[in-house]
Amino acid sequence: MLHPIGIFDSGIGGTSIWREVTAILPFENTIYLSDSMNAPYGEKSKEDIINFSIKNTELLLSKGCKLIIVACNTATTNSIDILRSKYDVPFIGIEPAIKPAALKTKTNNIGILATKGTLSSALFSETSEKFTTDINVIEQVGKGLVQLIENGQLHSDEMTELLHTYLQPMIKENIDHLVLGCTHYPYLIPQIQKIVGKNVAIIDSGLAVARQTNSILEKMSLKTTSDEIGNHQFYINTNTAILQTILSDVKLNHSVKKLDF
Ligand code: DGL
Repeated sequence: MLHPIGIFDSGIGGTSIWREVTAILPFENTIYLSDSMNAPYGEKSKEDIINFSIKNTELLLSKGCKLIIVACNTATTNSIDILRSKYDVPFIGIEPAIKPAALKTKTNNIGILATKGTLSSALFSETSEKFTTDINVIEQVGKGLVQLIENGQLHSDEMTELLHTYLQPMIKENIDHLVLGCTHYPYLIPQIQKIVGKNVAIIDSGLAVARQTNSILEKMSLKTTSDEIGNHQFYINTNTAILQTILSDVKLNHSVKKLDF
């Protein structure tokens, strides 16, 4: 049997990570869980986020996954330590890419857009303190953005208004790097770039996660030996339509199903 890579997120946003992973690991099979019923995690308590992460992990393990990608900054920053101590499979997490932004900034001002759950986590504070001592970091909670994406309102007026509200103060502070600390936000990049202008570099962690996955699979001899293009199963615990829409451009062999979890 070809053991798949398991991926979960609070919703459909983690598909931005799935895209990067399948681009560099085309022969791997994957199983993706979209826990849209419980989105947004960013507004939930740490305890709830841990419980959702455990539930998602156990479902992926019951389906034979050999490695799990926590494709959610909020779930990673609040629960990855517990997942790693509880289960034997390797976990790859995702955290806001503060370090590269801090190393590259010329204006010494960087912006970060993430959920409340991520920005208030101990893991995020640690990373931020470590790499941004002499840098002005403008943190902004992207309240409402995940819900709009989950509701299929990616290109709505409400979205444009919220983005303007959140990004304008960062532009005033002369940021030259904007870190996207939520896996839903890469789907907003064209709109964000329009608002912040081309002189602000937008950084997300998708490619880094995919590279790290590749390196852990190699190190642990878990990489598939198959030379056939992988097969991809997506499960969502609400309506399948939103997941189908976000994947409508995907040409790979995949199925989208509703599952109660
Ligand atoms: N994609 C999740 C993240 O990366 C969204 C969290 C949420 O559901 O609020 O943080």
